[in-house]
Amino acid sequence: MNQILIVDDEEKMRHLLAIILESRGYKVIQAADGVNAFDIINENAFDMVISDIKMPRMDGLELLEKMKANHITCPVVFITAFATIDSAVEAMRRGAADYITKPFEEDRILLTVERTLNFSRIISENRDLKQRLQKAEAGHEIIFKSQTMAAVMDMAGRVAKTDSAVLINGESGTGKELIARYIHRMSPRNEKRFVPVNCAAISSNLVESELFGHEKGAFTGADKKAEGKFEYASGGTIFLDEIGDLPLEAQAKLLRALQEKRIQRVGGNDEVPVDVRVICATNKNLSQQVEKEDFRQDLLFRINVFPIQPPPLRDRMEDVEILFDYFLKKLGAARSVKLDKSGLNALKSYLWPGNVRELANAAERAVILAGDKGQITGDTLSFLNSGQTRDCVPIPADEYKLPRTGIILEEFENNLVRQALEMSENNQTLASKLLGITRSKFRVLMKQYKENRKTGRA
Ligand SMILES: Nc1ncnc2c1ncn2[C@@H]1O[C@H](COP(=O)(O)OP(=O)(O)OP(=O)(O)O)[C@@H](O)[C@H]1O
Ligand SMILES: [Mg+2]
Repeated sequence: MNQILIVDDEEKMRHLLAIILESRGYKVIQAADGVNAFDIINENAFDMVISDIKMPRMDGLELLEKMKANHITCPVVFITAFATIDSAVEAMRRGAADYITKPFEEDRILLTVERTLNFSRIISENRDLKQRLQKAEAGHEIIFKSQTMAAVMDMAGRVAKTDSAVLINGESGTGKELIARYIHRMSPRNEKRFVPVNCAAISSNLVESELFGHEKGAFTGADKKAEGKFEYASGGTIFLDEIGDLPLEAQAKLLRALQEKRIQRVGGNDEVPVDVRVICATNKNLSQQVEKEDFRQDLLFRINVFPIQPPPLRDRMEDVEILFDYFLKKLGAARSVKLDKSGLNALKSYLWPGNVRELANAAERAVILAGDKGQITGDTLSFLNSGQTRDCVPIPADEYKLPRTGIILEEFENNLVRQALEMSENNQTLASKLLGITRSKFRVLMKQYKENRKTGRA
């Protein structure tokens, strides 16, 4: 039952309001002025306050201020005579929920009360939700600035609302698990479990029992019946990480489980129905594995209803700086160390084969190396380039087949220069690295590109 406090110095008015509200099942308490009201509010929880504005001792506006100052958030609706409507407007500006002018009709009062209560319920639900989300998100924020990553997250957000199987395919350290957790968090299943299973980390003879459970005595060591991850994830999401490493036999069982939405424990005959959303991840090319007959094609179709491909960090260098800042913050070092320009350059001219995970590790190492100096410079980060000379992947020769019709080499070069500049956000050091040439050679090509662009040939 909603409890409402009525504040008015006119006794007749309080009674009238009380009768109207009590007839609709509200519990009503009365106070004769602001001072009296504030004492009562301090002792009891109210869903709403209806108050006159002009009152002796403490008026309505003062009461509102005092409630705000004491973090009492229940909504306040004012009743005002036509003559004092200005103060009512002022009250709204200061945070009142609504106002009603005197004389009023019963319906008008009831409607305002209902609307205010509804609104305040939505606000408080919203606050709860936000708090829950913040708790769930702690440590799982996904940081990005690039358009490509924004598009990936948009896809993830959209598929989250469905029950479709998702396959996240990307290089190691690109955030596949983070995205899987995000999808679960944004899904209607978020009150139930998110259960990660690393398919590569379980020995092949145990993988089935791990996923589907086993009956007592199913194999040596199975001394009691055990629930598998599918059952454990019931109602929630199972995250099959490194799915490309699942042994073929287990693949057949998984396929059956996905098709039938039922599982069979190892050594058991009963079929147990399971309601689980499946998200898989891999850094392998599963189509190639299908060709090599290491992976079942029918299973690939099943799990790849909705593919998501987080791009490698080198294809979204815009994200490097905010990610690095984020990791500094996470390490508690954001205040004590700063990244200077040469440091930023070093971060941007490195190609991050280990992606975001490598960046996180580099941040940690840099903070230690920076010590009390308070600065992370290019020198601090020199460990990035030790042990590797060229990161670029050699392009298979036949992808570069010269067409019969021939090409214009200069156009080709212009095109590559443009792409390298885009990729590196106009960082010439990185751009020249991307093309495997020296800075000075890059400058020559860039000059040619700019001239051609001016004359409209590029
Ligand atoms: N966009 C991002 N924002 C913040 N942290 C990120 C982001 N992407 C990745 N990370 C962090 O980088 C690390 C690696 O991410 P994650 O484990 O999700 O990658 P992965 O693709 O599953 O890697 P692997 O293939 O090696 O399992 C984690 O610590 C994760 O929190
Ligand atoms: Mg992972």
